[in-house]
This record gives sequence, C-alpha cells and structure tokens, in this order.
Amino acid sequence: TKVHPASSLKALVTAGPTYELLDPVRFIGNFSTGKMGIALAESLAEKGIEVTLVLGPSKEKVNHPLIKIVNVVSAEEMLQACLKVYNAADITICAAAVADYRPVEKAPEKIKKGSEDSFHLELVKNPDILATLGRMKRENQVLVGFALETNNELEHAQKKLESKKANMMILNSLRKEGAGFGHDTNQVEILQKNKEIISLPLQSKAEIAKSIVDCILSIHKNDA
Ligand code: C5P
Repeated sequence: TKVHPASSLKALVTAGPTYELLDPVRFIGNFSTGKMGIALAESLAEKGIEVTLVLGPSKEKVNHPLIKIVNVVSAEEMLQACLKVYNAADITICAAAVADYRPVEKAPEKIKKGSEDSFHLELVKNPDILATLGRMKRENQVLVGFALETNNELEHAQKKLESKKANMMILNSLRKEGAGFGHDTNQVEILQKNKEIISLPLQSKAEIAKSIVDCILSIHKNDA
C-alpha cells in the first residue's frame, strides 16, 4: 500500500559504515552501527517526509512506509546512490561513517598468505560525500554533517561546517559516558553558521534525532 507523505519535503540520509573490499572476502571497515542515521531517517519520516536512506552494511532493522532504503557497501557506491537523489532532496543528512581510504585495487580472488613477514597494502582516498554534495548545494537545500572529534572539538567542527559548505554540523562528544559509536544514547552539539551553539543533553538517539530534525525544519522554514 502506498502511503502519501504528509509533507512535500524530501530527504536524503546516509548512515552506517562503508566496507572497502581488498578481495572477495576481506574489507576495511569501522564499528558504526548506523543507529544515529536510522533514528534521523525515522524522525524525518515521522514528520511525514519521504526519506531515501542510503545505508552501508548494518544489522539494524528499518521499517517505515516513508523510508526507502538503498543498500550500499563502499564509499563509491554510497556517493553514486546519493547523487541519484540529491537534486530532489530538500534536506540531506550525512551521518554515515565513510572510510577515508580504500584499497587501490580489489583482488579478483582471495589474497593468498605469502612467505614474507609483512604485507604492503596501498590505499587511495575515497570521495568526501558531504563535501561533494556541499559543492553542488542549491540555495534552498539544507545539508547537515556530523563531526566526531577527539581534540579541539568545536574548532574542528566549525572548520568542517565551512569547508564542506554544510548548513549544520552535529558534533558528537566522545568524552561523555554513553555517547557515540554503538551506544543507544548520544550527546551532541549543534553548530550552525553565525548562530549560537545548541548543546543537547545526553539522551536516546531517538530523542537526539527528534531535536536535530526540529532544528533542521526551523532553518528550512526560515530559508523558504
Ligand atoms: O571529515 P570528517 O570525516 O570528519 O567529516 C565527517 C562528516 O563528513 C560526516 O557527516 C560524514 O558522513 C561525512 N563524510 C562523507 N564522506 C567522507 C567522509 C566524511 O560524507 N568520505
């Protein structure tokens, strides 16, 4: 059954890790679960917004009639999937933990153990999806990124807000117990250009997602 969205807005959300294959059975990846991005997709859908969720390998279940899932594996695939829908998206949230580098080539067969004690793996930089979308951004599109920093958090997040041409950066605190990767709770700061930093309390990822979505919708209204 087709559900008619209550809102005319469309959103794009990236979530989860990316896996960069070395050969058919091995990859470079990270511990992202996709929980934060999925919670954001669900919050947007709860507002009646149609969401395309571009999701890297994740065990999480997503089931909402307004969320269309596009499963991807690598950063390259994630970028291509985003480019297909970005133009039509009023709101884009890049919550995926994209691998910065990938193996220069993927071996067609499983790489055999050699006799040498060391193994040299050459990596090449992946595209920065958020920065790519930022360069293409139109006036009325809202683009949101995440920053996970371990030192000079605010300064680094502020720089990313500018360099990636995002409207908003969500800074993940790693210092707080229960925040970040794999947890069901998170503590974040919302940074926006020329605006006061909003500091949200430690709460469930669903509650954080709701506050972030409310903040995004308030700027979208102001833009329109
Ligand atoms: O530069 P850094 O990885 O810290 O930036 C984090 C933000 O950029 C996140 O929103 C993440 O989803 C996005 N990103 C991306 N593509 C990359 C690297 C990061 O979209 N290759």
